[in-house]
Amino acid sequence: MKDSATPGAAADFYRSIYGSECEALARAPGRIEFIGNHTDYNGGRVAGAAVDRFVVAAAGRRSDRAVCFASALSPETAFRELGDFRKFSGALAWANYPLGIFSVMTARGLHASYGLNLAIVSDLPAGAGLSSSAALEVAAALAIGRVYGENPSATDLVAIGRTAENRFLGLPSGPLDQSVCVHGRENHLVFIDCKHLSMELVPLPGPYRIAIFNSGISHSLVDSLYAQRHNECAEALRLLRVIHPDLENLVDAPEPALDHLPADTPPAVAMRARHVIREHGRVAETREALRSGDMPLIGRLLRESHASSRTLFENSCPELDTLAGLLNEHPKVLGARLSGGGFGGSVMALVSREFGETDARAIADCYESVHGGRPEFLHCAVTGGAGPVSTR
Ligand code: GLA
Repeated sequence: MKDSATPGAAADFYRSIYGSECEALARAPGRIEFIGNHTDYNGGRVAGAAVDRFVVAAAGRRSDRAVCFASALSPETAFRELGDFRKFSGALAWANYPLGIFSVMTARGLHASYGLNLAIVSDLPAGAGLSSSAALEVAAALAIGRVYGENPSATDLVAIGRTAENRFLGLPSGPLDQSVCVHGRENHLVFIDCKHLSMELVPLPGPYRIAIFNSGISHSLVDSLYAQRHNECAEALRLLRVIHPDLENLVDAPEPALDHLPADTPPAVAMRARHVIREHGRVAETREALRSGDMPLIGRLLRESHASSRTLFENSCPELDTLAGLLNEHPKVLGARLSGGGFGGSVMALVSREFGETDARAIADCYESVHGGRPEFLHCAVTGGAGPVSTR
């Protein structure tokens, strides 16, 4: 699968579907969440990195008013008339991402007087917690923009993708995924301050790389569980504001305030808040540890983050716990944790350069003896952010 999502493959796929050459190509990477679990929509800090698995979008104009979305992973093409933003369902539900992007760009002033063809190729596994949806949104926004003579800025791309998720798709996600996808840089972590939407790029220390293990577990209720966590955090903020009326975001709450919540507060609400407040602190500590080169501390923070997801935020699952447990005991691993929304998906590990296929196989063997199936080991490099690519 790796290397299948090249600009050439997208251009070929476009030609095979639409019988003409595409006019625009754009490529967007997946991402890992390095640390900062569920801090983004709580107004906190988070760190991620773009990884070299991509979604590539090829686009071109049509002479009629049809809008067509094709994916190499889907046997059917999705059609709508220009201006018709009714959602797709079933096997075509994936097309709601580019349709949502088109809808948001139109609402923001994009003028489309002719139809559109879009063709997508990807080597980014869906449901792996690596943000294939943000990559699809950003690649589509760049390609669609070019067909209609627009060139959205990095800030626009993040806003368009997040608005499409929040308002069109109804997912209450934060700015992490699109921000890393757009602002990623080779061998750098992207630290995002989600309150001010400011970014800092911090080099990943030379002797380390990122290893990703995709559990292949994708919880059927992942969207509703994510929304439930979002609501629990909102409830915690509401209750804390009774004690601290000026509290802007959950991450800013002093942890001891949680001991003064009303007696009938559901225990889960206090647990979610405790996770978010501590996790936010861990992001700041990680930034400091990178500054001072304290790698053992970074390993400890990654392990603590996973433990907190498991016990307080309850967004882990046995498969992710097994992977994190095996990796966290491995001598070539500094620290490992679930990455992204949770409830399945991937574990990412900060590993020494010597960690290779043999080590990954040994981890997969142990995992298999417990859970049956084998996790997918993704050899990923930390890469640059999304952008247009040449059509030649
Ligand atoms: C998903 C969301 C992000 C973020 C993470 C959890 O990836 O899309 O906005 O909330 O989960 O940190």
